[in-house]
Amino acid sequence: MAEEGPRPPRPSQARGGARGGATPLAGSVALVTGASTGIGRHLVQGLAERGAAVAGLARNGERLAASMAEVAAATGARTLAVAADVTDRAAVDDAVARVREELGPVDLLVNNAGLVDAAEEPLWEADPDQWWDVVSSHVRGGFLLCRTVVPWMVLRNRGRVVNLASGMSLRARPEYSAYSVAKTGLMRLTEALAGALEGTDVRAFDVAPGVVRTEMTAGMPMHRGRTDWTEPADVVAFIAAIAAGELDAWSGRFLRVGGDDLDAVRGLLPDGDARQLRLHPYGETDPLA
Ligand SMILES: NC(=O)c1ccc[n+]([C@@H]2O[C@H](COP(=O)([O-])OP(=O)(O)OC[C@H]3O[C@@H](n4cnc5c(N)ncnc54)[C@H](OP(=O)(O)O)[C@@H]3O)[C@@H](O)[C@H]2O)c1
Repeated sequence: MAEEGPRPPRPSQARGGARGGATPLAGSVALVTGASTGIGRHLVQGLAERGAAVAGLARNGERLAASMAEVAAATGARTLAVAADVTDRAAVDDAVARVREELGPVDLLVNNAGLVDAAEEPLWEADPDQWWDVVSSHVRGGFLLCRTVVPWMVLRNRGRVVNLASGMSLRARPEYSAYSVAKTGLMRLTEALAGALEGTDVRAFDVAPGVVRTEMTAGMPMHRGRTDWTEPADVVAFIAAIAAGELDAWSGRFLRVGGDDLDAVRGLLPDGDARQLRLHPYGETDPLA
């Protein structure tokens, strides 16, 4: 059953804790969408290694359950597989309710699930249903997850949301029109969310992961022959730093793994509209400047 709105959080019933090593995220609960493969799978592992209890969400329940079980076995952390399509409102509500009941309220939400254009082509040649599925997976998906998870974060005045961004959040590639629209839309969602969260201790971030070797990039002709890939461990390090509260000053802004130096951004206090989507004025006389 879909829930109508937030109810007061209950104390965590089963919080995570990995075997050995440094566990900066011990006692926290993370929910990662698109957790069964690719970047999401790396995130589940990295967050679990740092002590978080991690719930993973994806459509294919079998593959997801196997991935989450592998991480639990490898790390000793508590994991949970919640199969759902991020664009299905009732399924998302049910999945998030299960996470809360079994692991506790979510401290870190990573909106990572999503699709890319099936072919490199101008938008008028794209299949309209696939085109819209791409947009929906990132924008409706991110929205539905935030809508269900963030009220609990606000109630507890604690939590962080990470939305997976891309270079195409900032400028469109004509042959990836749906993905460009989707990633820009998701970035606006982050900004709107961060603005609405002002006055609370809940934060929201855009993190572009660089170019990671995954099923998604393997299917994109633009990456054929590529040899310079971003290390998944670097993506994990950024998002773990966000989870630990080290990059709170960047709420509502864009960070890029592989371009940004994590130690450097830790020490920076961005202000104004730095790293936000804006219209560039054509000059000093531009009335829209
Ligand atoms: N790889 C890169 O270099 C790169 C660069 C920039 C941005 N990104 C972004 O990073 C994120 C992860 O990318 P990736 O390369 O790891 O992708 P991927 O390898 O294609 O994995 C996508 C994951 O999302 C799940 N998923 C897809 N649609 C879903 C839906 N509607 N509902 C629930 N789960 C869904 C998939 O599982 P199911 O199919 O079972 O649902 C899978 O677990 C994406 O948002 C992508 O746009 C990636």
